[in-house]
Amino acid sequence: MKNKRREFLMNVCPSVAMAFMGVTLLESCSSGGDDEADNGGGGNSNNQGYTVNGNTVVITLSHSTFATLNSNGWMNFTAQKMLILKIDASTYRAFTNSCPHQGVRTKWSYNSSQDKFKCGEHNNSYPTDCTTNGDAGGKLNCYTSSYSAGKLTVIKS
Ligand code: FES
Repeated sequence: MKNKRREFLMNVCPSVAMAFMGVTLLESCSSGGDDEADNGGGGNSNNQGYTVNGNTVVITLSHSTFATLNSNGWMNFTAQKMLILKIDASTYRAFTNSCPHQGVRTKWSYNSSQDKFKCGEHNNSYPTDCTTNGDAGGKLNCYTSSYSAGKLTVIKS
């Protein structure tokens, strides 16, 4: 009976149980989920390594979501509809992932020797300098971005 009571108390809440046993704790019971969100100062938080606040996306580059960016030097960040290109460890460029030709977003590859993104829908290629027109539909639009302390801030506009 005594053991069952102790088991019950431990299951309910360890600090309550300890109070029963004469130990005073100031710590309150918690489900443990209260402190999980890190909203980065008011942004819409998730656990995917980035926050969104209006048009501003702040990316934690070391997060596993961006492992492809680190290993391949570029990625199609489809959740935020952008292409990201790694120039070096502290220099990145971000673009819309909407193909200038007909808006296809998911058929991108990157040709490092030409420094161009290619859209496989109709095989048109686009320079990454933010100014030069590609094979069809004009230039691939860049977003304003900046790097600081492992985070890339992109302003989608
Ligand atoms: S939609 Fe991309 S090349 Fe046509």
